[in-house]
Amino acid sequence: MRIAILASGSGSNFEAIMKAVAAGQIKAEVVLVFADKKDAYVLERAKKFGVPAAAFTPKDFSSKAAYERALLALLQEYRVQWLVLAGYMRIVGAALLNAFPERIVNIHPALLPSFPGLHGIKDAFEAGVKTTGVTIHFVDAGVDTGPIIAQAEVAVRADDSLESLEERIHQTEHQLYPEVLAKLLNEERVI
Ligand code: GRF
Repeated sequence: MRIAILASGSGSNFEAIMKAVAAGQIKAEVVLVFADKKDAYVLERAKKFGVPAAAFTPKDFSSKAAYERALLALLQEYRVQWLVLAGYMRIVGAALLNAFPERIVNIHPALLPSFPGLHGIKDAFEAGVKTTGVTIHFVDAGVDTGPIIAQAEVAVRADDSLESLEERIHQTEHQLYPEVLAKLLNEERVI
C-alpha cells in the first residue's frame, strides 16, 4: 500500500508511523509527506527518514479548489492509495474526498463527537471532563465528523496541567495510530 502523510505542524505522529513501518508493524510504504505550511517541522522529519516531501499553501493558488487540484495531481504522480492525516489542520474538499473514497483517515486528540475542531485537548481540559482521549476516524466533508474507527481513553488527573495532559494524549496517539493503520492497511488489497 502506498500512503501519503498530510500534516501542518510538528509531525510527531508521522514519526511514530515511520517507526512502525520500519519495524514491520505497518505493511505500507510512506511515499510522500505533504505539508500545507512551508515551515512545518514535519518537513525536517521527512528529510531525516528520507521520505520525499512537498509543501505549498492555498495562498499560492487562486482558490481552495485549485490548491486541492494541485495536491491531487501530486498525489497521483506518487501513485498514492491512502491519505493519512496527521495534524493536517484543514478541511478536506471534494477533489480529495472523491479521489480517495473511504481511504482518508484522521487522528483527533479528543473523544469525538466531543470537542471537535482545532483545540480538542484544551477544550476538553477547560470543560473539566474526567476522561478525554484520542479518536481515529474516516474523513468526510465535515470538521471531525466522519465515521469513527477507534478510540482510546485518557484519564484527566486532578493535578494535570494542560501541558501534562497534552503529553499523555500525544503518547496515546503515537501508540493508537500505528495500531489502527496496521489493521486498516495490512489486509487491504487494491487492484
Ligand atoms: C495531534 O494532536 C493530532 O491529533 C492533531 O494535531 C496534532 C498533530 O501533532 N490533529 P503532530 O504534528 O503529529 O506532532
